[in-house]
Amino acid sequence: MRHLGVLSVLVIVAAIMVAATYQPNSDRASIALEVQEDPRPKNHLPQFTDDERLIKPDDWQSWVMVGASIGLSYSEPVSFQPPAPDDSPGTFHHIYMQPWAYQSFRDSGEFPEGTMFILAMYPPENDRIPAKGGWYEGDGRLAEIHLKQKGLHETGWGFYGYGREDESAELIDGSASCYTCHAEETVHDHVFVQFYPALRDKLKPEGSH
Ligand code: HEC
Repeated sequence: MRHLGVLSVLVIVAAIMVAATYQPNSDRASIALEVQEDPRPKNHLPQFTDDERLIKPDDWQSWVMVGASIGLSYSEPVSFQPPAPDDSPGTFHHIYMQPWAYQSFRDSGEFPEGTMFILAMYPPENDRIPAKGGWYEGDGRLAEIHLKQKGLHETGWGFYGYGREDESAELIDGSASCYTCHAEETVHDHVFVQFYPALRDKLKPEGSH
């Protein structure tokens, strides 16, 4: 019996040694990983509350920033005039979209279903050290979202507006001016691609500069 005990210990040790030296085919393992990885993590897809309010994405600042503007005004009558050198230049706008939707647009020139554009606004500031002149962005916030999803509106897109504390927002009514201006004044699929350097080069005819 004592021999049997020693024998089983030896068998276990041998099994551990075999297991420790076993290396899976690393190429096959990494291919399997690539197939499994979804480029669209859940928080990069539109998510809704039970009463169909669009939830504010939690990590939108890590999305692709496709363009920025400052003091851009598009309401009539135009209230904004170009600033004198010491005047505020107006609000900074940043436009973000999900990395997977960005890649898809770069590949195809079209926005895939589920694309979300975020318009974030930042007030201009000029007084933190060591600033001596010019303007930088103060504390801003996510202000609006433009979502491409069938069934929201006849355009195939829906608009949502967020207050500073809002974690979710309801769909803006289809009669709002958001829908008409974005339908009539944009150069591509209801999005102001003409203002976004990281997108608009895809619209140029081939060979032109
Ligand atoms: C008179 C035209 C006009 C109206 C009305 C308008 N927008 Fe826009 N929108 C623009 C322009 C121009 C831009 C370009 C980006 C910027 O502001 O820096 C833009 C950009 C956006 C973007 C960034 C993504 C995109 O589609 O280009 C969002 C989101 C957005 N607007 C939401 C709204 C919402 C919500 C409303 C309604 C409450 C609205 N807009 C009304 C002209 C308009």
